[in-house]
Amino acid sequence: FKKIAVAAACALTLSSYAALAQEGPLVIKLAHVVTDDTPKGQGALMFQRLVDQRLEGKVKVEVYPNSSLYGDANELEALRNNDVQMLAPSLAKFDKYTKQLQVFDLPFMFDDLEAVNRFQKRAKGRQLLRSMEDQNIVGLAYWHNGMKQMSATKALRLPADATGLSFRIQNSNVLDAQFAQLGAKSVKMPFAEVYKGLQSGQVQGAENPWSNLYSQRLHEVQPFITETNHGVLDYMLISNARFWYGIPHQIRTELEAIIDEVTFAVNRQAEEANLADRRRIEASGKSQVITLTAEQRDAWREAMRPVWQQFEAEIGSDVIKAAQTVNR
Ligand code: LMR
Repeated sequence: FKKIAVAAACALTLSSYAALAQEGPLVIKLAHVVTDDTPKGQGALMFQRLVDQRLEGKVKVEVYPNSSLYGDANELEALRNNDVQMLAPSLAKFDKYTKQLQVFDLPFMFDDLEAVNRFQKRAKGRQLLRSMEDQNIVGLAYWHNGMKQMSATKALRLPADATGLSFRIQNSNVLDAQFAQLGAKSVKMPFAEVYKGLQSGQVQGAENPWSNLYSQRLHEVQPFITETNHGVLDYMLISNARFWYGIPHQIRTELEAIIDEVTFAVNRQAEEANLADRRRIEASGKSQVITLTAEQRDAWREAMRPVWQQFEAEIGSDVIKAAQTVNR
């Protein structure tokens, strides 16, 4: 009996070594919902490239852009199940897991991307990266896209121009409340369906940074885009916490260094990428870009501002206060 047990144990050991040898590199699937040609899409490809160069044979990153593997409806659940290991959802899409991140959706909270950047770097902003760990989601970095612009089938110059229209929103109650303040309706819709939703007339308006407008060709179905800069669209690069902390320490440290490098590049280039797409939209002649006077923009701010109060208790006044100090 003893002999058999020893033999069996040896066989097991050998077979598990064999399994290890056959396993090959650790595969990280990174899925997202925008095209390659956007700040996030470029960041994902740069991450893949640097991992290829520095961790060849140890880690392999597979990038799935444009909702080709998972989309808004199921990507977070897929990540928590470890069916996909990394995502970079918009900060508007975490309602279900933490209320604190809703601070990023509050209209006119941040003057510009620089202010957003300052908040993300400070203690409170960094804390929010860990706000979902109890739900097996770990935040690795913030990636910028840009400030959101309001678009519609009609020219929006004053808040009342939006009244009665239906806007596509991300899955966020703050954004729902924001449009309710304008007397407008809103429909939560996965990003992959936005073009169709606008083209078919199911919704008449939307809010997007220039890069998302251009890369999804939304400007072709939105004859008017108002430069409102009323809110921010940024991302949290996340992983499945159990998966992430299970990566051998040395490899994880390498990955974290690569993420730092990619984050720096994404965040440095995002604003320029959005400006370039804005120019492309203007040059296309398909959509009229409307700029607001200071008074007009103040009117939007006044109209939307009550949303802050509505969500203060949920988000936490400490978070809101910390965010407010970053504007200059
Ligand atoms: C949206 O749904 O509008 C955005 O979150 C898409 C994205 O990832 O930029």
